Amino acid sequence: MGENSVVSLKYNTSVEEITAYQERMIFPVISKALNGSEKILLDFGCGTGRFTRQLARLIGGRAIGADPIMELLDMARQGDPINEYVLISNNRIPIDDASVDAIWICLVMGGIPETQLTAIVQELKRVLRPNGLVLLIENTSALPNSTHWTYRTRERYQEIFDFARLTVSGGYQEVDEDITIFTGRK
Ligand SMILES: C[S@@+](CC[C@H](N)C(=O)[O-])C[C@H]1O[C@@H](n2cnc3c(N)ncnc32)[C@H](O)[C@@H]1O
Repeated sequence: MGENSVVSLKYNTSVEEITAYQERMIFPVISKALNGSEKILLDFGCGTGRFTRQLARLIGGRAIGADPIMELLDMARQGDPINEYVLISNNRIPIDDASVDAIWICLVMGGIPETQLTAIVQELKRVLRPNGLVLLIENTSALPNSTHWTYRTRERYQEIFDFARLTVSGGYQEVDEDITIFTGRK
């Protein structure tokens, strides 16, 4: 891929090992995109909060995890009594306009169908403050779509997130699929 390490994961790797691997691949890249002004980060589509706590530590501030599935938020809260977790409903994130300094979106957009993209990106734009940072980690493999996943190109993600002027800051391979790390500012 021409950026950073390219390492393949084995299929029998545990969730903890995968998370540790992803952190090793992603955190050094996104660290370079931070400018020290980021004190509140939104983890959009946080799931069980695999990265939320570590992201708060990385910025030396706090994180808000947001997800539409309550059971996942409950699991996230159990593992992290410090940061806040909020429920997304009807693609509405229950936080104020321009209230976050950075948004992290890791392996979420591929699960979102084309019909919902505009509403979601508008919502992300609404909650991010001017000059706020977008950190997008997404699968950009050239593969056919499945029932649950839409594979999009790097160029397509740059078009979808035009408000953040994303550039490709890095990438790695995960189980033979191409993951791209995009960063950009509103
Ligand atoms: C593959 S998981 C990734 C979770 C987390 N980002 C991680 O890396 O562990 C995809 C997540 O996106 C969430 N999700 C699905 N549709 C969403 C939507 N419309 N808005 C926000 N999150 C959504 C799912 O509930 C799930 O937690």
